[in-house]
Amino acid sequence: MRIMFIGDVVGSLGRETITTYLPKLKKKYHPQVTIVNGENAAGGRGITEKIYKKFLQDGVDVVTLGNHTWDNRDIFNFIADAKKMIRPVNFPKETPGVGCVYVKVNASELAVINLQARTFMTAIDDPFTAIDQLLEQVHKKTTNVFVDFHGETTSEKQAMGWYLDGRVSAVIGTHTHVQTNDARILPKGTAYLSDVGMTGPYDGVLGMKKEAVIEKFITALPRRFEVIETGRSILSGCVIDIDDLTGKARHIELIQISEDRPFLE
Ligand SMILES: [Fe+2]
Repeated sequence: MRIMFIGDVVGSLGRETITTYLPKLKKKYHPQVTIVNGENAAGGRGITEKIYKKFLQDGVDVVTLGNHTWDNRDIFNFIADAKKMIRPVNFPKETPGVGCVYVKVNASELAVINLQARTFMTAIDDPFTAIDQLLEQVHKKTTNVFVDFHGETTSEKQAMGWYLDGRVSAVIGTHTHVQTNDARILPKGTAYLSDVGMTGPYDGVLGMKKEAVIEKFITALPRRFEVIETGRSILSGCVIDIDDLTGKARHIELIQISEDRPFLE
C-alpha cells in the first residue's frame, strides 16, 4: 500500500495549500491512505471541528496531532466523535481521545499511531513504554503500522526509529516544521524520517511572522507570535510504499512544493 503523509499544516495558508494541492498530489502519487498532521491548523494552535471536517472533505483519511492538541478549546466539543483524528497515545490516562486508529486498505488494515517525544517538551508518559504496550494490541490485528512521532530533537526521533525498526512500517517525525533530508529504510524494514516539515507560510519562522520572533531573540522580552495568513506557502510531505503482507517499507520519497521547488505533474 502507498501512504502519503503531509506535515504540520499551519493556519489558513496551510489549509488553503492542502485544498489546492491534495487533488494534484493524489493524481500524481495515487496513495491509498492520506494522513495529515493538523495540530497547528487553527491559527497555528490546535484544531477546530470545522477544520477537521474540511480536511476530511479535502480527502484526508487521518488527522494526527501533538503538543498543541488542546490549544483550541473547540477540541473538547468534538474529539470524542472524531473517529479519524488521533492525539499522542502517551498523553496521561483520562485524557480525551485516542492515539491509534485503523484504516482499511484493500484486504488489509493500516494502524495509524500518534506518539509524542519528551525531550524539551511537556513531561508526558514515556513514549517507548507506551508504544511497546500499544503494539502488543496492534500486532494482533495488523503488521502495517504508521507512527507520527511528534518531537523536538533528532536524537530522540532517531532512537525511536531504531527502537521500532522491524516492528512498524514507518516512523515519521513531526513538530520542528523543517523537513530533514534523512529519509531511509532502516535495516529491518522501517521507513524513517526525522521530520516531514510543515505546510503553510513560507516566509516566516516556522509559520509565524518573523519580526516578532527576531525581536524576541534579540530582547528576550515576551512577544506575541502571530501566524502569517497571506503570501507564499510551502507544502512538505512524504510518500511511503509498504508491502501489505509483511508490513515492511519498500520505499520512502520526500515531497516539497514551494516557489523554489515548483510542483511537477
Ligand atoms: Fe508540535
